[in-house]
Amino acid sequence: MSLFRRKPIADLVVDEADSSRSLKRVLGAGDLIMLAIGAVIGAGIFGAIGTAAAGQVGPDGVVIRYGAGPALVFSFLLLGGACALAALCYAELASMIPQAGSAYAYTYATLGEAVAWIIGWDLILEYAVGNVAVAISWGDYFTTLMRGIGVEFPAWLTTGYRTALLSSNPDVHGLLQTAPHVAGIPILVNLPAFGIVAFVTWLLLRGAKESSRANNIMVVIKLVALALFIGVGLTSLDMANYTPFAPNGFTGIHQGAAIVFFAYIGFDAISTAAEETRDPQRNLPIGILGGLAICTVIYVVVGFVLTGMVPYTELANSADPLAYALQSAGFQRVGWIVALGAAVSMTAVLLVFQYGQPRIFFSMARDGLLPQWAATLHPKTRIPATTTLITGVVVALAALVGDAAETYDLTNIGTLFAFALVCTGVLVLRITEPNRPRPFKVPVAWVVAPLGAAACVFIMVGLPYQAWERFGIWLAVGLVLYFAYGYSHSKLRS
Ligand code: ALA
Repeated sequence: MSLFRRKPIADLVVDEADSSRSLKRVLGAGDLIMLAIGAVIGAGIFGAIGTAAAGQVGPDGVVIRYGAGPALVFSFLLLGGACALAALCYAELASMIPQAGSAYAYTYATLGEAVAWIIGWDLILEYAVGNVAVAISWGDYFTTLMRGIGVEFPAWLTTGYRTALLSSNPDVHGLLQTAPHVAGIPILVNLPAFGIVAFVTWLLLRGAKESSRANNIMVVIKLVALALFIGVGLTSLDMANYTPFAPNGFTGIHQGAAIVFFAYIGFDAISTAAEETRDPQRNLPIGILGGLAICTVIYVVVGFVLTGMVPYTELANSADPLAYALQSAGFQRVGWIVALGAAVSMTAVLLVFQYGQPRIFFSMARDGLLPQWAATLHPKTRIPATTTLITGVVVALAALVGDAAETYDLTNIGTLFAFALVCTGVLVLRITEPNRPRPFKVPVAWVVAPLGAAACVFIMVGLPYQAWERFGIWLAVGLVLYFAYGYSHSKLRS
Protein backbone atom coordinates (compact mmCIF):
# COMPACT_ATOMS: atom_id res chain seq x y z
CA MET A 1 0.00 0.00 0.00
CA SER A 2 3.00 2.28 0.18
CA LEU A 3 2.20 3.30 -3.38
CA PHE A 4 -0.76 5.15 -2.00
CA ARG A 5 0.99 6.81 0.90
CA ARG A 6 -0.55 10.23 1.33
CA LYS A 7 1.32 13.34 2.26
CA PRO A 8 -0.19 14.67 5.50
CA ILE A 9 -1.97 17.94 4.83
CA ALA A 10 -0.42 19.41 7.95
CA ASP A 11 2.93 19.26 6.10
CA LEU A 12 1.48 21.28 3.29
CA VAL A 13 -0.31 23.98 5.21
CA VAL A 14 1.72 26.88 6.42
CA ASP A 15 0.84 28.14 9.87
CA GLU A 16 -0.94 31.42 9.23
CA ALA A 17 0.21 32.84 12.50
CA ASP A 18 3.78 32.55 11.26
CA SER A 19 3.78 35.72 9.18
CA SER A 20 7.29 35.12 7.83
CA ARG A 21 6.09 32.00 5.99
CA SER A 22 2.49 32.68 5.12
CA LEU A 23 1.26 34.92 2.35
CA LYS A 24 -0.84 37.97 3.01
CA ARG A 25 -4.55 37.68 2.34
CA VAL A 26 -4.94 40.61 -0.01
CA LEU A 27 -6.93 39.37 -3.02
CA GLY A 28 -10.64 40.06 -3.37
CA ALA A 29 -13.16 38.53 -5.76
CA GLY A 30 -12.45 41.18 -8.40
CA ASP A 31 -8.72 40.41 -8.39
CA LEU A 32 -9.44 36.72 -8.85
CA ILE A 33 -11.71 37.47 -11.80
CA MET A 34 -8.93 39.49 -13.45
CA LEU A 35 -6.43 36.68 -12.82
CA ALA A 36 -8.79 34.13 -14.34
CA ILE A 37 -9.38 36.16 -17.49
CA GLY A 38 -5.64 36.77 -17.81
CA ALA A 39 -4.81 33.07 -17.75
CA VAL A 40 -7.77 31.80 -19.74
CA ILE A 41 -8.42 33.89 -22.88
CA GLY A 42 -5.91 32.89 -25.54
CA ALA A 43 -5.39 30.36 -28.32
CA GLY A 44 -8.64 28.54 -27.58
CA ILE A 45 -10.90 31.41 -28.57
CA PHE A 46 -8.56 32.91 -31.15
CA GLY A 47 -7.46 29.63 -32.79
CA ALA A 48 -9.15 26.35 -31.80
CA ILE A 49 -12.61 27.85 -32.29
CA GLY A 50 -12.32 27.46 -36.10
CA THR A 51 -11.73 23.70 -35.98
CA ALA A 52 -14.45 23.32 -33.33
CA ALA A 53 -16.99 24.96 -35.66
CA ALA A 54 -15.88 23.36 -38.92
CA GLY A 55 -14.62 19.96 -37.83
CA GLN A 56 -11.54 18.35 -39.30
CA VAL A 57 -10.85 16.02 -42.19
CA GLY A 58 -7.52 14.31 -42.76
CA PRO A 59 -5.61 14.52 -46.05
CA ASP A 60 -7.07 11.13 -47.00
CA GLY A 61 -10.63 12.46 -46.62
CA VAL A 62 -11.30 10.57 -43.39
CA VAL A 63 -13.24 12.59 -40.78
CA ILE A 64 -11.10 13.24 -37.69
CA ARG A 65 -13.84 15.13 -35.85
CA TYR A 66 -17.24 16.59 -36.64
CA GLY A 67 -17.73 20.31 -36.22
CA ALA A 68 -20.47 21.98 -34.20
CA GLY A 69 -21.34 24.58 -36.85
CA PRO A 70 -23.21 27.60 -35.45
CA ALA A 71 -24.36 25.33 -32.59
CA LEU A 72 -20.87 25.94 -31.23
CA VAL A 73 -22.57 28.27 -28.76
CA PHE A 74 -23.98 25.15 -27.09
CA SER A 75 -20.50 23.62 -26.91
CA PHE A 76 -19.40 26.69 -24.95
CA LEU A 77 -22.37 26.46 -22.59
CA LEU A 78 -21.71 22.76 -21.98
CA LEU A 79 -18.08 23.50 -21.20
CA GLY A 80 -18.97 26.42 -18.95
CA GLY A 81 -21.16 24.12 -16.86
CA ALA A 82 -18.61 21.30 -16.66
CA CYS A 83 -15.81 23.69 -15.76
CA ALA A 84 -17.93 25.36 -13.08
CA LEU A 85 -18.35 22.03 -11.30
CA ALA A 86 -14.64 21.26 -11.50
CA ALA A 87 -13.78 24.82 -10.47
CA LEU A 88 -15.75 24.49 -7.23
CA CYS A 89 -13.79 21.33 -6.41
CA TYR A 90 -10.50 23.09 -7.17
CA ALA A 91 -11.56 25.89 -4.85
CA GLU A 92 -12.20 23.54 -1.93
CA LEU A 93 -8.86 21.76 -2.24
CA ALA A 94 -7.03 25.00 -2.93
CA SER A 95 -8.41 26.58 0.23
CA MET A 96 -7.51 23.50 2.31
CA ILE A 97 -4.11 22.95 0.75
CA PRO A 98 -2.98 26.36 -0.37
CA GLN A 99 0.30 25.34 -1.91
CA ALA A 100 2.13 25.73 -5.18
CA GLY A 101 1.87 22.69 -7.41
CA SER A 102 -1.89 22.83 -7.78
CA ALA A 103 -3.51 19.51 -8.71
CA TYR A 104 -0.26 17.68 -8.06
CA ALA A 105 -0.11 18.79 -4.42
CA TYR A 106 -3.82 18.17 -3.86
CA THR A 107 -3.54 14.64 -5.17
CA TYR A 108 -0.50 13.87 -3.06
CA ALA A 109 -2.62 14.66 -0.01
CA THR A 110 -5.75 12.88 -1.16
CA LEU A 111 -5.15 9.97 -3.49
CA GLY A 112 -1.56 9.19 -2.62
CA GLU A 113 1.87 9.24 -4.21
CA ALA A 114 1.40 7.06 -7.28
CA VAL A 115 -1.63 9.03 -8.43
CA ALA A 116 0.13 12.29 -7.55
CA TRP A 117 3.05 11.31 -9.77
CA ILE A 118 0.65 10.49 -12.58
CA ILE A 119 -0.99 13.89 -12.16
CA GLY A 120 2.35 15.69 -12.10
CA TRP A 121 3.33 13.84 -15.26
CA ASP A 122 -0.09 14.57 -16.72
CA LEU A 123 0.21 18.30 -15.97
CA ILE A 124 3.08 18.40 -18.47
CA LEU A 125 0.32 17.93 -21.05
CA GLU A 126 -1.59 20.91 -19.68
CA TYR A 127 1.35 23.26 -19.26
CA ALA A 128 4.19 22.40 -21.66
CA VAL A 129 2.21 20.69 -24.41
CA GLY A 130 -0.54 23.30 -24.06
CA ASN A 131 2.04 25.98 -24.69
CA VAL A 132 3.14 24.24 -27.88
CA ALA A 133 -0.40 24.78 -29.17
CA VAL A 134 -0.51 28.39 -27.98
CA ALA A 135 2.83 29.11 -29.65
CA ILE A 136 1.66 27.63 -32.96
CA SER A 137 -1.50 29.73 -32.84
CA TRP A 138 0.58 32.77 -31.94
CA GLY A 139 2.71 32.07 -35.02
CA ASP A 140 -0.39 31.97 -37.23
CA TYR A 141 -1.55 35.37 -36.01
CA PHE A 142 1.96 36.76 -36.29
CA THR A 143 2.09 35.69 -39.95
CA THR A 144 -1.22 37.53 -40.53
CA LEU A 145 0.16 40.64 -38.80
CA MET A 146 3.27 40.62 -40.96
CA ARG A 147 1.26 40.11 -44.14
CA GLY A 148 -0.78 43.16 -43.13
CA ILE A 149 2.34 45.32 -43.24
CA GLY A 150 3.49 43.78 -46.49
CA VAL A 151 5.98 41.19 -45.18
CA GLU A 152 5.33 37.75 -46.65
CA PHE A 153 7.36 34.81 -45.34
CA PRO A 154 7.75 31.66 -47.42
CA ALA A 155 5.16 29.13 -46.20
CA TRP A 156 7.83 26.54 -45.37
CA LEU A 157 9.20 28.86 -42.68
CA THR A 158 5.83 29.37 -40.97
CA THR A 159 4.30 25.90 -41.25
CA GLY A 160 5.31 23.00 -39.04
CA TYR A 161 5.94 19.59 -40.60
CA ARG A 162 3.03 17.95 -38.74
CA THR A 163 0.62 20.66 -39.91
CA ALA A 164 1.53 20.04 -43.55
CA LEU A 165 1.32 16.28 -43.06
CA LEU A 166 -2.15 16.38 -41.47
CA SER A 167 -3.76 19.17 -43.50
CA SER A 168 -6.59 18.47 -45.92
CA ASN A 169 -5.90 21.81 -47.61
CA PRO A 170 -4.04 20.91 -50.85
CA ASP A 171 -1.92 24.09 -50.65
CA VAL A 172 -0.67 23.24 -47.16
CA HIS A 173 -0.39 19.49 -47.70
CA GLY A 174 1.42 20.18 -50.96
CA LEU A 175 4.23 21.86 -49.03
CA LEU A 176 5.50 18.35 -48.33
CA GLN A 177 6.55 18.33 -52.01
CA THR A 178 7.25 22.00 -52.69
CA ALA A 179 9.29 22.85 -49.58
CA PRO A 180 13.07 22.72 -49.91
CA HIS A 181 14.42 19.27 -49.12
CA VAL A 182 17.60 18.31 -47.32
CA ALA A 183 18.64 14.69 -47.68
CA GLY A 184 15.12 13.88 -48.91
CA ILE A 185 13.44 15.46 -45.87
CA PRO A 186 11.14 18.45 -46.45
CA ILE A 187 12.15 21.47 -44.39
CA LEU A 188 8.91 22.66 -42.81
CA VAL A 189 9.37 24.75 -39.70
CA ASN A 190 7.27 27.25 -37.80
CA LEU A 191 9.91 29.84 -37.02
CA PRO A 192 7.56 32.42 -35.43
CA ALA A 193 6.24 29.80 -32.98
CA PHE A 194 9.78 28.82 -32.10
CA GLY A 195 10.80 32.44 -31.73
CA ILE A 196 8.04 33.44 -29.30
CA VAL A 197 8.82 30.53 -26.98
CA ALA A 198 12.49 31.44 -27.06
CA PHE A 199 11.59 35.04 -26.21
CA VAL A 200 9.26 34.11 -23.34
CA THR A 201 11.88 31.72 -21.92
CA TRP A 202 14.46 34.46 -22.06
CA LEU A 203 12.14 36.80 -20.16
CA LEU A 204 11.51 34.17 -17.48
CA LEU A 205 15.18 33.39 -17.10
CA ARG A 206 15.76 37.04 -16.37
CA GLY A 207 13.34 36.67 -13.49
CA ALA A 208 10.25 38.14 -15.12
CA LYS A 209 7.12 37.60 -13.08
CA GLU A 210 3.48 38.05 -13.72
CA SER A 211 2.64 41.21 -11.85
CA SER A 212 -0.95 42.12 -11.21
CA ARG A 213 -0.44 45.41 -13.05
CA ALA A 214 0.86 43.68 -16.19
CA ASN A 215 -1.96 41.19 -15.92
CA ASN A 216 -4.57 43.94 -15.75
CA ILE A 217 -3.15 45.57 -18.88
CA MET A 218 -3.27 42.22 -20.71
CA VAL A 219 -6.85 41.66 -19.64
CA VAL A 220 -7.85 45.04 -21.02
CA ILE A 221 -6.11 44.30 -24.34
CA LYS A 222 -7.85 40.92 -24.63
CA LEU A 223 -11.24 42.36 -23.88
CA VAL A 224 -10.78 45.27 -26.28
CA ALA A 225 -9.70 42.91 -29.09
CA LEU A 226 -12.71 40.65 -28.57
CA ALA A 227 -15.10 43.60 -28.15
CA LEU A 228 -13.82 45.02 -31.42
CA PHE A 229 -14.38 41.68 -33.13
CA ILE A 230 -17.90 41.45 -31.75
CA GLY A 231 -18.83 45.07 -32.46
CA VAL A 232 -17.60 45.08 -36.05
CA GLY A 233 -18.66 41.49 -36.73
CA LEU A 234 -22.24 42.20 -35.66
CA THR A 235 -22.53 44.65 -38.56
CA SER A 236 -21.89 41.94 -41.15
CA LEU A 237 -23.90 38.93 -40.05
CA ASP A 238 -25.58 36.89 -42.76
CA MET A 239 -28.56 35.01 -41.36
CA ALA A 240 -28.15 32.37 -44.07
CA ASN A 241 -24.98 31.23 -42.33
CA TYR A 242 -27.01 30.01 -39.35
CA THR A 243 -28.73 27.29 -41.41
CA PRO A 244 -28.11 24.48 -40.83
CA PHE A 245 -27.64 25.46 -37.21
CA ALA A 246 -26.33 22.13 -35.94
CA PRO A 247 -25.08 20.37 -39.08
CA ASN A 248 -23.74 17.37 -37.17
CA GLY A 249 -26.29 17.29 -34.38
CA PHE A 250 -25.16 16.58 -30.86
CA THR A 251 -22.08 14.71 -32.10
CA GLY A 252 -20.80 17.95 -33.58
CA ILE A 253 -21.55 19.94 -30.42
CA HIS A 254 -19.81 17.29 -28.32
CA GLN A 255 -16.73 16.89 -30.51
CA GLY A 256 -16.49 20.65 -31.02
CA ALA A 257 -16.60 21.10 -27.24
CA ALA A 258 -13.83 18.54 -26.81
CA ILE A 259 -11.33 20.64 -28.80
CA VAL A 260 -12.48 24.13 -27.76
CA PHE A 261 -12.24 23.07 -24.11
CA PHE A 262 -8.74 24.44 -24.57
CA ALA A 263 -10.27 27.93 -24.29
CA TYR A 264 -11.20 27.22 -20.65
CA ILE A 265 -7.88 25.88 -19.46
CA GLY A 266 -6.20 28.14 -16.96
CA PHE A 267 -8.90 29.00 -14.44
CA ASP A 268 -7.65 26.05 -12.39
CA ALA A 269 -4.36 27.91 -12.09
CA ILE A 270 -5.99 30.72 -10.13
CA SER A 271 -7.00 28.30 -7.40
CA THR A 272 -3.34 28.53 -6.41
CA ALA A 273 -4.08 32.06 -5.21
CA ALA A 274 -6.29 30.62 -2.45
CA GLU A 275 -3.72 31.31 0.24
CA GLU A 276 -3.73 34.99 -0.65
CA THR A 277 -7.48 35.41 -0.84
CA ARG A 278 -9.43 37.41 1.72
CA ASP A 279 -12.51 35.71 3.11
CA PRO A 280 -12.06 32.66 0.83
CA GLN A 281 -15.46 31.14 1.62
CA ARG A 282 -17.05 34.11 -0.11
CA ASN A 283 -14.42 35.33 -2.56
CA LEU A 284 -13.07 32.08 -4.04
CA PRO A 285 -16.37 30.91 -5.51
CA ILE A 286 -17.29 34.44 -6.65
CA GLY A 287 -13.87 34.90 -8.24
CA ILE A 288 -13.58 31.52 -9.93
CA LEU A 289 -17.21 31.18 -10.99
CA GLY A 290 -17.43 34.87 -11.90
CA GLY A 291 -14.35 34.64 -14.12
CA LEU A 292 -15.70 31.49 -15.69
CA ALA A 293 -19.13 33.03 -16.28
CA ILE A 294 -17.65 36.13 -17.90
CA CYS A 295 -15.45 34.02 -20.21
CA THR A 296 -18.38 31.77 -21.11
CA VAL A 297 -20.56 34.74 -22.04
CA ILE A 298 -17.76 36.24 -24.15
CA TYR A 299 -17.12 32.90 -25.87
CA VAL A 300 -20.79 32.34 -26.65
CA VAL A 301 -21.07 35.80 -28.22
CA VAL A 302 -17.82 35.40 -30.18
CA GLY A 303 -18.98 31.97 -31.41
CA PHE A 304 -22.34 33.40 -32.45
CA VAL A 305 -20.77 36.32 -34.35
CA LEU A 306 -18.04 34.24 -36.00
CA THR A 307 -20.42 31.61 -37.38
CA GLY A 308 -22.76 34.36 -38.59
CA MET A 309 -20.03 36.23 -40.46
CA VAL A 310 -18.74 33.38 -42.61
CA PRO A 311 -20.12 29.93 -43.51
CA TYR A 312 -18.73 27.65 -40.81
CA THR A 313 -17.22 25.34 -43.45
CA GLU A 314 -14.80 28.10 -44.45
CA LEU A 315 -13.22 28.00 -41.02
CA ALA A 316 -11.82 24.50 -41.59
CA ASN A 317 -8.59 25.69 -43.08
CA SER A 318 -8.15 28.92 -41.20
CA ALA A 319 -5.52 29.04 -38.48
CA ASP A 320 -6.50 32.58 -37.46
CA PRO A 321 -10.30 32.41 -37.71
CA LEU A 322 -11.21 35.75 -36.09
CA ALA A 323 -8.87 37.77 -38.29
CA TYR A 324 -9.91 35.69 -41.29
CA ALA A 325 -13.63 36.38 -40.74
CA LEU A 326 -13.07 40.13 -40.37
CA GLN A 327 -10.85 40.30 -43.43
CA SER A 328 -13.24 38.30 -45.60
CA ALA A 329 -15.96 40.71 -44.57
CA GLY A 330 -13.78 43.53 -45.86
CA PHE A 331 -12.49 44.86 -42.54
CA GLN A 332 -8.77 44.57 -43.29
CA ARG A 333 -7.58 47.08 -40.73
CA VAL A 334 -9.83 45.84 -37.89
CA GLY A 335 -8.72 42.27 -38.67
CA TRP A 336 -5.15 43.40 -38.27
CA ILE A 337 -5.84 45.11 -34.92
CA VAL A 338 -7.66 42.04 -33.61
CA ALA A 339 -4.73 39.87 -34.74
CA LEU A 340 -2.43 42.14 -32.74
CA GLY A 341 -4.67 41.77 -29.68
CA ALA A 342 -4.66 38.00 -30.19
CA ALA A 343 -0.87 37.85 -30.33
CA VAL A 344 -0.58 39.91 -27.14
CA SER A 345 -3.20 37.76 -25.36
CA MET A 346 -1.41 34.58 -26.28
CA THR A 347 1.94 35.93 -25.14
CA ALA A 348 0.35 36.41 -21.71
CA VAL A 349 -0.91 32.83 -21.67
CA LEU A 350 2.52 31.56 -22.73
CA LEU A 351 4.09 33.41 -19.82
CA VAL A 352 1.66 31.97 -17.26
CA PHE A 353 2.17 28.36 -18.33
CA GLN A 354 5.86 28.60 -19.11
CA TYR A 355 6.22 30.05 -15.60
CA GLY A 356 4.08 27.31 -14.05
CA GLN A 357 5.70 24.23 -15.57
CA PRO A 358 9.16 24.54 -13.95
CA ARG A 359 7.47 25.19 -10.61
CA ILE A 360 5.52 21.95 -10.85
CA PHE A 361 8.80 20.15 -11.60
CA PHE A 362 10.22 21.99 -8.60
CA SER A 363 7.49 20.69 -6.26
CA MET A 364 7.93 17.16 -7.55
CA ALA A 365 11.71 17.26 -7.21
CA ARG A 366 11.39 18.65 -3.68
CA ASP A 367 9.32 15.58 -2.84
CA GLY A 368 12.06 13.40 -4.30
CA LEU A 369 10.00 12.24 -7.28
CA LEU A 370 12.32 13.96 -9.76
CA PRO A 371 16.12 14.33 -9.60
CA GLN A 372 17.37 16.94 -7.14
CA TRP A 373 18.84 19.24 -9.77
CA ALA A 374 15.24 20.07 -10.72
CA ALA A 375 14.73 21.48 -7.23
CA THR A 376 17.70 23.82 -7.26
CA LEU A 377 17.26 27.54 -7.61
CA HIS A 378 19.54 29.92 -9.45
CA PRO A 379 21.72 31.59 -6.79
CA LYS A 380 21.00 35.13 -8.01
CA THR A 381 17.51 35.15 -9.49
CA ARG A 382 16.10 32.49 -7.09
CA ILE A 383 14.17 30.88 -9.95
CA PRO A 384 14.30 27.22 -11.06
CA ALA A 385 16.54 28.19 -13.98
CA THR A 386 17.53 24.74 -15.24
CA THR A 387 13.98 23.47 -15.59
CA THR A 388 12.87 26.82 -17.03
CA LEU A 389 15.50 26.41 -19.74
CA ILE A 390 14.69 22.75 -20.41
CA THR A 391 10.97 23.53 -20.64
CA GLY A 392 11.74 26.37 -23.04
CA VAL A 393 13.92 24.26 -25.33
CA VAL A 394 11.48 21.34 -25.49
CA VAL A 395 8.40 23.53 -26.05
CA ALA A 396 10.18 25.63 -28.69
CA LEU A 397 11.36 22.57 -30.63
CA ALA A 398 7.93 20.96 -30.51
CA ALA A 399 6.30 24.21 -31.68
CA LEU A 400 8.78 24.32 -34.57
CA VAL A 401 7.39 21.18 -36.21
CA GLY A 402 4.08 20.54 -34.40
CA ASP A 403 0.44 20.82 -35.43
CA ALA A 404 -2.02 22.86 -33.39
CA ALA A 405 -5.09 20.58 -33.54
CA GLU A 406 -3.37 17.39 -32.41
CA THR A 407 -1.63 19.36 -29.66
CA TYR A 408 -4.94 20.81 -28.42
CA ASP A 409 -6.31 17.28 -28.22
CA LEU A 410 -3.44 15.97 -26.13
CA THR A 411 -3.55 18.97 -23.79
CA ASN A 412 -7.30 18.69 -23.36
CA ILE A 413 -7.35 14.99 -22.57
CA GLY A 414 -4.60 15.43 -19.99
CA THR A 415 -6.21 18.45 -18.35
CA LEU A 416 -9.67 16.90 -18.23
CA PHE A 417 -8.16 13.85 -16.57
CA ALA A 418 -6.57 16.07 -13.91
CA PHE A 419 -9.91 17.85 -13.38
CA ALA A 420 -11.69 14.53 -12.91
CA LEU A 421 -9.15 13.42 -10.33
CA VAL A 422 -9.46 16.70 -8.44
CA CYS A 423 -13.24 16.21 -8.26
CA THR A 424 -12.66 12.70 -6.94
CA GLY A 425 -10.10 13.98 -4.44
CA VAL A 426 -12.69 16.26 -2.84
CA LEU A 427 -14.89 13.30 -2.00
CA VAL A 428 -11.99 11.19 -0.77
CA LEU A 429 -10.96 13.91 1.66
CA ARG A 430 -14.52 14.40 2.87
CA ILE A 431 -14.38 10.75 3.97
CA THR A 432 -10.80 10.46 5.19
CA GLU A 433 -10.51 13.85 6.89
CA PRO A 434 -14.04 15.05 7.59
CA ASN A 435 -13.01 17.41 10.38
CA ARG A 436 -10.15 19.23 8.72
CA PRO A 437 -10.92 22.95 8.37
CA ARG A 438 -12.19 23.86 4.92
CA PRO A 439 -12.03 27.63 4.36
CA PHE A 440 -14.20 26.96 1.32
CA LYS A 441 -16.64 24.05 1.06
CA VAL A 442 -18.23 22.84 -2.17
CA PRO A 443 -22.00 23.12 -1.71
CA VAL A 444 -23.78 19.75 -2.05
CA ALA A 445 -20.42 18.12 -2.70
CA TRP A 446 -21.90 14.65 -3.14
CA VAL A 447 -23.72 15.92 -6.20
CA VAL A 448 -21.30 18.53 -7.54
CA ALA A 449 -18.07 16.48 -7.38
CA PRO A 450 -19.31 13.24 -9.03
CA LEU A 451 -21.14 15.29 -11.64
CA GLY A 452 -17.97 17.30 -12.30
CA ALA A 453 -15.87 14.16 -12.74
CA ALA A 454 -18.49 12.61 -15.01
CA ALA A 455 -18.75 15.78 -17.11
CA CYS A 456 -14.96 15.84 -17.62
CA VAL A 457 -14.89 12.19 -18.68
CA PHE A 458 -17.82 12.86 -21.01
CA ILE A 459 -15.94 15.69 -22.74
CA MET A 460 -12.85 13.48 -23.01
CA VAL A 461 -14.97 10.95 -24.90
CA GLY A 462 -15.51 13.60 -27.60
CA LEU A 463 -11.80 13.62 -28.49
CA PRO A 464 -10.48 11.63 -31.46
CA TYR A 465 -9.35 8.05 -30.91
CA GLN A 466 -5.75 9.04 -31.55
CA ALA A 467 -5.73 11.38 -28.55
CA TRP A 468 -6.72 8.48 -26.31
CA GLU A 469 -4.02 6.28 -27.75
CA ARG A 470 -1.36 8.90 -27.18
CA PHE A 471 -2.65 9.67 -23.72
CA GLY A 472 -2.44 5.97 -22.85
CA ILE A 473 1.15 5.83 -24.06
CA TRP A 474 1.99 8.98 -22.12
CA LEU A 475 0.60 7.52 -18.88
CA ALA A 476 2.38 4.20 -19.46
CA VAL A 477 5.72 5.98 -19.95
CA GLY A 478 4.99 7.98 -16.80
CA LEU A 479 4.40 4.85 -14.75
CA VAL A 480 7.62 3.28 -16.00
CA LEU A 481 9.53 6.40 -14.97
CA TYR A 482 7.83 6.41 -11.58
CA PHE A 483 8.89 2.87 -10.81
CA ALA A 484 12.34 3.41 -12.27
CA TYR A 485 13.01 6.56 -10.23
CA GLY A 486 10.36 8.25 -8.09
CA TYR A 487 9.31 5.14 -6.21
CA SER A 488 12.75 4.59 -4.77
CA HIS A 489 13.71 8.25 -4.27
CA SER A 490 10.48 9.53 -2.71
CA LYS A 491 11.20 11.56 0.43
CA LEU A 492 7.86 10.58 1.90
CA ARG A 493 8.64 6.89 1.70
CA SER A 494 12.15 7.18 3.10
N1 ALA B 1 -7.07 28.82 -22.20
C1 ALA B 1 -5.79 29.14 -22.72
C2 ALA B 1 -5.86 29.50 -24.16
O1 ALA B 1 -6.90 29.42 -24.75
C3 ALA B 1 -4.83 28.03 -22.50
O2 ALA B 1 -4.86 29.88 -24.73
